Amino acid sequence: MNSVRRAGIVGIGSALPEKVLNNEYFESIVDTSDEWIVTRTGIKERRVAVDGECASQLAARAAEQALNNAGISAEELDLIICATISGDMPFPATASIVQEKIGAKKAAAFDLSAGCSGFVYALTTANSFVCSGTYNKVLVVGVDLLSKVTDYTDRTTCILFGDGAGAVIVAPTDGSHGILSTVLGSDGAGAELLKIEAGGSRMPITVEAIETRQHCIKMAGSEVFKFAVRIMGDASLQALEKCGLTPEDVDIFIPHQANIRIIESAARRLNLPPEKIFVNVQKYGNTSAASIPIAMSEAMQEGRLKPGDVVVMVGFGAGLTWAASVVKWGISANNGNSV
Ligand code: COA
Repeated sequence: MNSVRRAGIVGIGSALPEKVLNNEYFESIVDTSDEWIVTRTGIKERRVAVDGECASQLAARAAEQALNNAGISAEELDLIICATISGDMPFPATASIVQEKIGAKKAAAFDLSAGCSGFVYALTTANSFVCSGTYNKVLVVGVDLLSKVTDYTDRTTCILFGDGAGAVIVAPTDGSHGILSTVLGSDGAGAELLKIEAGGSRMPITVEAIETRQHCIKMAGSEVFKFAVRIMGDASLQALEKCGLTPEDVDIFIPHQANIRIIESAARRLNLPPEKIFVNVQKYGNTSAASIPIAMSEAMQEGRLKPGDVVVMVGFGAGLTWAASVVKWGISANNGNSV
């Protein structure tokens, strides 16, 4: 019989492309300004993959860093979950390609699609597998290269997105740290607000679809904004309540990095002071499923996320979906063989 046990994050890593696009670049390709982008989004620059750079490459780099931080080898992994909406190909799963790249011979592998909420959805899935005793070591990767599906003639979306990957290892813990609660949600009534329409069974890719850029991201920005402002606070409070904590117990808040105004309004709702909020949206833009693990990895490297800290992570995205988790942090940058 499997018994319920606690799971936690025992290793973390991240990977970003080298190429930087700053706001001045966007001034040169669409009718926008650095001032508009900074005041409306907080973004100053973002990383983008070059031709030939793909999701599995960044995912494998982040995964290797996470394995190193955990001090375990790829052969020990039981499962790989890749949260992505911009994998290498529609199929096979990017998780299977990552498995081959890192040499995780005995791991099962699948992708999970929940937009920018994907990382916390995948973390929740990994938590369930580990807590139930089904698996011992699960690699969770959040990776997106939305630059590959962005319409660079659409000023309302092209300034927002960047590419990257973040990865964690989820494994049983002794109970002193671990995943304390998770909250997942979806409202399919908002499915049309944020989408890539062409390339699926409803609208296969045609010349006409490409000419009208239906193979790129389309978003109703202000509707998504209003949803995000409401749900980030609601989901965080629900996750805290679920594990018997309150906003006063939070040491660090690591929200999905989409827009500084959304982050600040969520933080106000939780009554959190600025020093408890981690923000790196200015450097990377919205990296979708990668944004939370990249932010957690950076927070740990900078010493802002320490063993014993209570961290709240929360995301929202296509679906529309949302996801939050409260974690008692248990690792440091030099945890395993060091990152
Ligand atoms: N540069 C200059 N002007 C721009 C612009 C840009 N890059 N993008 C849009 N505008 C214009 C609009 O055309 C509009 O002009 P109009 O009033 O003449 O029609 C005006 O700015 C205001 O547009 P609006 O969409 O109301 O702005 P906003 O304050 O809502 O900010 C977003 C736009 C996209 C930054 C904001 O809605 C947002 O962040 N939404 C959530 C997006 C998100 O997080 N998506 C990912 C989910 S994971």
